[in-house]
Amino acid sequence: IIKSVRCIFVFYPDYLCLYLPWCSDGCAFLPQGCMDKHRVMGILHQMEKFLKGQEIRFTEGLRIMKSKLTNLQNSVSKLPQADQSSSQSSCPPLLAPAHGRKFGSKYLVGHEVHFTCSQGYRMIGPGTRVCHENGTWSGVSVICKDVSVCASNPCQNGGTCVETLNQFKCTCPHNWSGSQCQYQTQTAPPEWSVMNDPAFSHKPRCAKVDRAQHCSCDAGFHMSGTSDNSICQDVNECEVYKADRGGPLCGHSCVNVPGSYHCSCPTGYKLLTDGRSCEDVDECLTQQHNCSRGTTCINTGGGFQCVNPECPPSHGNISYVKTSPLQCERNPCPMESRSCPFAAKTISYHYLSLPSNLRTPATLFRMATATAPGRPGPDSLRFGIAGGGDARSMFVMQRSDRQTGELILVQPLRGPQELSVEVEMSEYAERTFQAKHLARVNLLISPYEF
Ligand SMILES: *[C@@H]1O[C@H](CO)[C@@H](O)[C@H](O)[C@H]1NC(C)=O
Ligand SMILES: *[C@@H]1O[C@H](CO)[C@@H](O)[C@H](O)[C@H]1NC(C)=O
Ligand SMILES: *[C@@H]1O[C@H](CO)[C@@H](O)[C@H](O)[C@H]1NC(C)=O
Ligand SMILES: *[C@@H]1O[C@H](CO)[C@@H](O)[C@H](O)[C@H]1NC(C)=O
Repeated sequence: IIKSVRCIFVFYPDYLCLYLPWCSDGCAFLPQGCMDKHRVMGILHQMEKFLKGQEIRFTEGLRIMKSKLTNLQNSVSKLPQADQSSSQSSCPPLLAPAHGRKFGSKYLVGHEVHFTCSQGYRMIGPGTRVCHENGTWSGVSVICKDVSVCASNPCQNGGTCVETLNQFKCTCPHNWSGSQCQYQTQTAPPEWSVMNDPAFSHKPRCAKVDRAQHCSCDAGFHMSGTSDNSICQDVNECEVYKADRGGPLCGHSCVNVPGSYHCSCPTGYKLLTDGRSCEDVDECLTQQHNCSRGTTCINTGGGFQCVNPECPPSHGNISYVKTSPLQCERNPCPMESRSCPFAAKTISYHYLSLPSNLRTPATLFRMATATAPGRPGPDSLRFGIAGGGDARSMFVMQRSDRQTGELILVQPLRGPQELSVEVEMSEYAERTFQAKHLARVNLLISPYEF
């Protein structure tokens, strides 16, 4: 036995393969006859038991398969027969169509089954099928087909799709237009748009884009109305920016024009290159005045004045003579006159054009003494405001250095108005009064703050 078996494999249920130790040629090397009879019998007995086990398992498997086959045969034979040869009293079961429902579950002859389709689906085929005598259903299978063009939600931005014959139409919500509600529109004209003036509105330019009407307005215009009946209306920039926190567009006044605006200035002022600020035109410098000979042209905010100040009339032994268009000098005093030397030695006239509401304090005017070279000048000066009244509360006259005094405006002045203030400067030498000089300062305040 041992010699004729080259190799024996023992298969255990868990597929572990063992090589019997007495085999030669690749299995294991053991000297022949090294195993006694008792041990070989034991192994053969094990093999016998193993084969028996396999036989039992195999038989059991066959039995189960046979039983299953029988069950299948039974159930197949019980199924209702559709073919005419084996006449049955029922029809095969029917299923509900996809996206639809089936009503009726009896498939007996003469019974009806009804079908419906879900919303958005159209039924193709009969809504009702009857089970015929011959075991067949009337009609054909029902299909629920998505035939709605609205099924793909073609309307954007909350538009409602309405189906028409093989087409759809979008009903757009407010502020949207276009065949698919893809364009934003304005339902109401925007605030500050110019209404009721044909010069300030135009028809929008429209172009077909993707089979949809796309309309636009020129710059400075706003579209309003509905998508079919829209209009471009001018935006009144002057009003828009008046309300804006960024301040007004123009230094003085804003003029709205179709699609834009421009700034304008009061007469006598010109618009600066920035397009918004106004600057006074100096009529005197540009020879735009008509001041007659003997008068002096004084430029004012928005205009000019022709001035010819007169010296004070003679009073006792005090008299003046005009030494220049804007200056008077006192005639020499008689020796015996005591009051004459105390009268102003010179009177000068000054004209200051100021904007309205000038920021205060503002230095308006400076007054200084000039001594002829080589002659002893005054060693001290006193400055003051001559006269009284309102001027005293609005101005301060103070020394700015040893030789100079300045007139300071301390209260803002609102134009248009004209007022004058007289300032005086007294010269002293070794504490003795020498002479007094008077300056009449005329303030010409313009109505504007520029
Ligand atoms: C079954 O009967 C109906 C009407 O009785 C008939 O129209 C139909 O053709 C028949 N079907 C077959 C397969 O014979
Ligand atoms: C339409 O747009 C205007 C301005 O853009 C807005 O004030 C209004 O509330 C919008 N209307 C709707 C219904 O969205
Ligand atoms: C200058 O002309 C204006 C009008 O252009 C007139 O009102 C004014 O009286 C004239 N002034 C003089 C000094 O001629
Ligand atoms: C003016 O001077 C004369 C002498 O030249 C004198 O008689 C006269 O009283 C003086 N008048 C006044 C008002 O000072």
